[in-house]
Amino acid sequence: MVDNSDLLGIIHKKVVSKLVKNKKYIIAANWKMNKNLAETYEFLTRLSTIDYDKRNTVILFPPFPYTFIAQKILQDSCIMYGMQNMSWKASGAFTGEVSPEMALDLGCKYVIIGHSERRSIFYETDAMIADKVYAAVQYGITPILCIGENLDDRNKNTFGEKLESQLYQCLNKVKNDDTRKVIIAYEPVWAIGTGINATKDQVRDTHLFIRETLRKLFDDSVANLIPIIYGGSVKADNVLDIAMIENVSGYLIGGASLDINEFSKIIYHLNGY
Ligand code: PGA
Repeated sequence: MVDNSDLLGIIHKKVVSKLVKNKKYIIAANWKMNKNLAETYEFLTRLSTIDYDKRNTVILFPPFPYTFIAQKILQDSCIMYGMQNMSWKASGAFTGEVSPEMALDLGCKYVIIGHSERRSIFYETDAMIADKVYAAVQYGITPILCIGENLDDRNKNTFGEKLESQLYQCLNKVKNDDTRKVIIAYEPVWAIGTGINATKDQVRDTHLFIRETLRKLFDDSVANLIPIIYGGSVKADNVLDIAMIENVSGYLIGGASLDINEFSKIIYHLNGY
């Protein structure tokens, strides 16, 4: 005997699943500085066998030394991979840096730029990030430009100014034509790795605000097409909460992307079945 709440649950699931199928999602996994060689090998081997809907784009960001394993294992699959950071310089005396050409040699088509950890721990400035975004676009590598406010900005309601300033400064070298290759990741710093999610209303309003700011920077026809993905404590059991919100084109996932079972569940949820 099925009671009313079970029935409503089943109907809700079916409706969500149908709506999810009408959108294309970017599902990006930011591993940060985690996993060793054997763990990376095992994860990628399992990931390459996952049945996922090709309308979505799955992108893995392993630690840089393991990019070559991604190249080896994922080359015959549709799963993409990239780097978590990149220099804007082509070559030269830049100890510890990795150039765009090296990224291309390893088959990287995407790069994360300006993650909040790069900004806060490694003192990356908006000016450096602007150079990196520009370099990525010039080399045909899609930058995922991360922006996000800290808790103080959110509490004081000054987050709009922070995000607007990040967008203006980090995209100031990019022209209309280049935006076809740009993805924006909105990651409220207070939601990263904390288990706290932005509410649906916060995500809806902030993604809309980002879209409106992009329209001030670029022609509407291009600004409207720039994917805006959300990051911050995304997991399998909350990934669908914001999936239907307008201007949400996917996710940048940290902690939950380290566990193949959890990450597969996220992929399956976004398959829409
Ligand atoms: P999280 O990290 O999913 O662990 O919050 C997201 C990120 O830092 O990109």
